[in-house]
Amino acid sequence: MKHLLKLLDLKESEILDILNLADQLKYEKKNGIEHKYLEGKSLGMIFQKSSTRTRVSFETGMYQLGGQALFLSPRDLQIGRGEPIEDTARVLSRYLDGIMIRTFAQQEVEDLAKYGSIPIINGLTDFAHPCQVLADLMTIREYKGEFDNLKLTFVGDGNNMANSLIVGCLKVGMQVAIACPYDYRPDATVINFAEKYGDKFTITPDVMKACKDADVIYTDVWASMGQEGEAEKRKQAFKGYQVNAETMSVAKKDAMVLHCLPAHRGEEITAEVLEAHPEIFDEAENRLHAQKAVMVKLMADKDVLKAKHI
Ligand code: CP
Ligand code: NVA
Repeated sequence: MKHLLKLLDLKESEILDILNLADQLKYEKKNGIEHKYLEGKSLGMIFQKSSTRTRVSFETGMYQLGGQALFLSPRDLQIGRGEPIEDTARVLSRYLDGIMIRTFAQQEVEDLAKYGSIPIINGLTDFAHPCQVLADLMTIREYKGEFDNLKLTFVGDGNNMANSLIVGCLKVGMQVAIACPYDYRPDATVINFAEKYGDKFTITPDVMKACKDADVIYTDVWASMGQEGEAEKRKQAFKGYQVNAETMSVAKKDAMVLHCLPAHRGEEITAEVLEAHPEIFDEAENRLHAQKAVMVKLMADKDVLKAKHI
């Protein structure tokens, strides 16, 4: 594994390796065991969209691993004035040891990897949010102990979160049900991928049907970053696509609720359900541990990995 561009690129064993290392790093962090596996390394972080979790978890994670992170805003970078991504990639590769990028088009992330010579990490595009789903899988395994045949139901927009959850959950052996309006289905490449998993994947406009017997219920905002202008239209389209007491009543009794956050209480999730499921904040914490694992896998020197048996 050279980059983390999207989960479609990863084998199941690569996903599990990251999750195992994330568990180890979390244990080390909680027990005060120093793990400076990235001493002397620098991560550039390009943000074309807002962020709370991704920015803070990458920046502190890099610090905890002994390296440094540079926040690069498009307002300051020459990208904002039109410098092409292929030149930016080649130049930044001469200074940095890795780049995390949050942007709109998936192609931009793929191009950074194509033209640069250092590991690229996708910190969210319109197509995918692989770091979030690694943290989600880590959280599911913490609570449920295993993945086999657990059913995750995603309620709402077939967006970047839905795309990445479908791929990540199916790859580790889970079942995935999507409840979304017909006009807001996940990306066609993801649906094609999922259909190979037969009846482990289902998609329906019927929220209650999708939530039946779910082990994990997941939702995300109706209007993602960049879609602010469509917010009113989307409020109409997604009426009823809400995680609430009624949807929870048909899920398994011990069903988890996950949300990548930020959440819009009263839209995709009720305040009552959100507040009753503190695992959502374990999920947010796990961004830190999962991303540290990704950075170690992609950026640590071979002798460090060997010495630490990683
Ligand atoms: N879930 C997530 O990626 O949060 P931020 O947008 O705050 O980074
Ligand atoms: N779908 C949301 C996820 C935010 C973490 C967005 O892209 O804005």
